[in-house]
Amino acid sequence: MAHRSMHDLLAPSLSIDWPNMPIVRAEGTRVYGQDGRVYLDFVSGMAALPLGHGHPAVVAAIREQAGMLIHAPVGVYQYDVLLDLAEDLADVMPGEIGMFFFGNSGAEAVEGAVKLARYVTGRQTVIAFRGGFHGRTLGALALTASKAKYRHGYHPLPGAVHGRFPYPLRDRMTPQEATERALGELDELLLHVVSPEDVAAFLVEPVQGEGGYVPATKEFLEGLRARADEAGALLIYDEVQTGFGRTGAMFAAQHYGVTPDVMALAKAIASGLPLGAVASTPEIMRKWTPASHGTTFGGNPVAAAAARATLRVLQEEDLPRRAADLGAGTTQALQALQARHPEISEVRGPGLMIGVEFGERRPEDGEFTRAVLRNCLDLGLVIYPCGTAGSALRFIPPLNVNESDLAQGIEILDRAIAKARGR
Ligand SMILES: Cc1ncc(COP(=O)(O)O)c(C=O)c1O
Repeated sequence: MAHRSMHDLLAPSLSIDWPNMPIVRAEGTRVYGQDGRVYLDFVSGMAALPLGHGHPAVVAAIREQAGMLIHAPVGVYQYDVLLDLAEDLADVMPGEIGMFFFGNSGAEAVEGAVKLARYVTGRQTVIAFRGGFHGRTLGALALTASKAKYRHGYHPLPGAVHGRFPYPLRDRMTPQEATERALGELDELLLHVVSPEDVAAFLVEPVQGEGGYVPATKEFLEGLRARADEAGALLIYDEVQTGFGRTGAMFAAQHYGVTPDVMALAKAIASGLPLGAVASTPEIMRKWTPASHGTTFGGNPVAAAAARATLRVLQEEDLPRRAADLGAGTTQALQALQARHPEISEVRGPGLMIGVEFGERRPEDGEFTRAVLRNCLDLGLVIYPCGTAGSALRFIPPLNVNESDLAQGIEILDRAIAKARGR
């Protein structure tokens, strides 16, 4: 076959990304390149593969379900696998959260959560936070503020106001000072710009993902909880990236011990099949009256079967706890790299949601990170950046990664940083 380029066939809005590596197949932590090389994959499907590629339990569930029922729109039909999934999920959700609207993606889950909040409060404004990423559809994009370039060309965007998220390294403050400043600015916003009675919801990623793997402080989330309660607004957690064990608890809400009213879920929920969910309490969900939201494919039976299998393995193998234990050791090992590589300015994040930061927004730090990533690729490790200037990398192996793969990933990163310094 003549050599084909994705650039001739796919919109450059997405196809021009990094590293665009042609691959043939993948298994566990390994991807097989068209170049004949085998790579260690620590992108984990952009945090959508908590069990790695093609986990046998997920593949078996998909095969079995595909033979029975591939698609039947919810509402016209009702099928057990989706109700079973809702029951399974209700068992692991924080607080009273136990009712779901299933969609197909993270952005859809965020949009659904915001529609729910607007509908039940009768208010329109949503307060999100700078550095947050919530998706690319127009509603979710209005709330996304990780990079201005994502918003460029799409103004005006409706209904969103952005507050400050505490980022101690960049703020050059202690976590406590950064938290106090962020909450203080939020109070100013509520005093001068948005009346609390107009706020439908506060929307936050408990650990900012795309924005740089920046964990919120517990006090910041407690401050949002208190302000939401006082304003009669809902607190929405975007757990699209933090959910399903990544932070060392099933959800970041449990890791922090601060419970929201609504959650947006996607990514790891179905090990790579398109599935997302708005999750809330029955009390709130029951106010979302018939026909006020809908979907054709959401809650697809095959994706639901994959999600049930994923959740079963996460629970049977106690992978959230493993992520906590392995994450602590991995953070220590990466901090040991920091002691030898002065370019690393911070290693941060709970569980196996670890960010390795090389700078604080200066463009040259983004360049250094890119050099590290290129060297990793040459040495056989695929890993992806994050942060507003692309100055951090996300260290997110699957939660069931074995210790020798993990050690290999850290060792490659060590060599890649040393090589980048000599570039
Ligand atoms: C926290 C968060 N929310 C929402 C999204 C959007 O998800 P999707 O790309 O599935 O629409 C992402 C994707 O990276 C995300 O990380």
